[in-house]
Amino acid sequence: MTRIAVVTGGARGLGLAIARLLADRGHALVLVDRDDAVRDTAEQLRTASAVVADLTADEDVRRVRDFVRETHGSVDVLVNNAGITRDARLATMAEADFTAVVEVNLLAAMRLTFALEAELRDGSSVVNMSSRAALGNFGQANYVASKSGLIGFTRGLALRWSPRVRVNAVAPGLIDSPMSRAMPPRVLDGLVARIPAGRIGEPEDVAKAVAFLASDDASYITGQVLTVCGGRSIAP
Ligand SMILES: NC(=O)c1ccc[n+]([C@@H]2O[C@H](COP(=O)([O-])OP(=O)(O)OC[C@H]3O[C@@H](n4cnc5c(N)ncnc54)[C@H](O)[C@@H]3O)[C@@H](O)[C@H]2O)c1
Repeated sequence: MTRIAVVTGGARGLGLAIARLLADRGHALVLVDRDDAVRDTAEQLRTASAVVADLTADEDVRRVRDFVRETHGSVDVLVNNAGITRDARLATMAEADFTAVVEVNLLAAMRLTFALEAELRDGSSVVNMSSRAALGNFGQANYVASKSGLIGFTRGLALRWSPRVRVNAVAPGLIDSPMSRAMPPRVLDGLVARIPAGRIGEPEDVAKAVAFLASDDASYITGQVLTVCGGRSIAP
């Protein structure tokens, strides 16, 4: 039976790499993104359909749920990958930038997950896209709060939904994507120099970790965080 995967933020970047890998591994995909470029992305992948939705809007979350219900009936894999940054020093960070990041990265993921509870099949898997930055990062208090909150949500939900649904998180370090390329090149080079693996991560590095946690190979793994950072989290 074809496995159904819902990937948020699937228009580009890590979401696109995850979608490609899951499609290669035989999943039918529902790609969700507020950017309507997600329609083109879905067309490139033979087994994908697209829903243009802003996941911070309750009516859009309901629309995603209704689409999944009507088109596929159930879900095997949910990847909560959509995310944003609004970096600033905490002293000058606008409250709106703090709440916007928590709304998208944490609360929208929680709302979609709960909205799809009935559709998640027995034995299904939720993978939440956290970040190595959950451990702390200068100028990212909003992002750190959202991504560490997502780890707390992952652990709490894993207990609540075991043994029916597994819930895990992936915590990427610095990955080559539109989000990281938005940084000034000098800052980016400085960060790459501190990665023990000696290179920036590729979206495919993260996609492989997500696909593993989503698969039955990880059937005894729940409530965990898989860090994909080239060793950055253990470096001095
Ligand atoms: N790139 C990195 O270095 C890195 C590192 C660690 C974690 N992450 C996380 O990985 C995820 C993907 O990152 P990326 O680098 O591919 O980012 P990206 O900006 O390239 O892609 C994010 C996607 O999410 C979508 N999105 C944003 N807000 C949305 C909303 N409200 N509703 C629906 N879709 C929305 C965007 O339109 C975009 O297509 C994010 O959660 C990010 O925090 C990225």
